[in-house]
Amino acid sequence: MHTKPHQGIISRIDQGNLPDNERRELLLAASGIVGGAGLLATAYPFVASLAPSERARALGGPVEADVSDLAVGELRTVAWRGKPVWLMRRSADMVRALQQPAPELADPLSVRSEQPPTCVNATRSIRAELFVAVGICTHLGCSPTLRLNDGSLNAELHAPGGFVCPCHGSRFDLAGRVVKNVPAPTNLEIPPYRFEGASRLQIG
Ligand code: FES
Repeated sequence: MHTKPHQGIISRIDQGNLPDNERRELLLAASGIVGGAGLLATAYPFVASLAPSERARALGGPVEADVSDLAVGELRTVAWRGKPVWLMRRSADMVRALQQPAPELADPLSVRSEQPPTCVNATRSIRAELFVAVGICTHLGCSPTLRLNDGSLNAELHAPGGFVCPCHGSRFDLAGRVVKNVPAPTNLEIPPYRFEGASRLQIG
């Protein structure tokens, strides 16, 4: 049977016929080994307790999200590199509205805005029904609010909804495209992401 180091030392101490100085050294060695093992035993559960996504977040790496239960019109926020990333499921009516010509928008084709190449299209997304965007206004960094029942906003965007920034009134459509003549200079940022299955995606 394998004997742990501190067990061997303790059995020598227990023999009882050791000189005092040797006995004192062995006691110190035993307490050091047991103390080190205690430290490891305390630290290991802490490290192990971090979920993989929390470890990834701590490192600024990709994060995963499951949108299987995301309802139409629902907006969910996940953290990625310290930024709020929105996930929103759009209805067929919302998608149709985004695909119409939009003279009220400042950058409808997103040529001056930040998004991955896979999202340079009218819905600024990989799958038209799922909107993924960094929820930070491109003016001074406030967080815009989703408005689905705002009559004047819907009339301006010719769409069933959009986003309004409460700080200085910038407005965005449901693809994060900014309206002309508001303080925000560009569309909302779209982060890099990809689908890992029917309803799981990796952001970053
Ligand atoms: S921070 Fe959004 S309009 Fe100024």
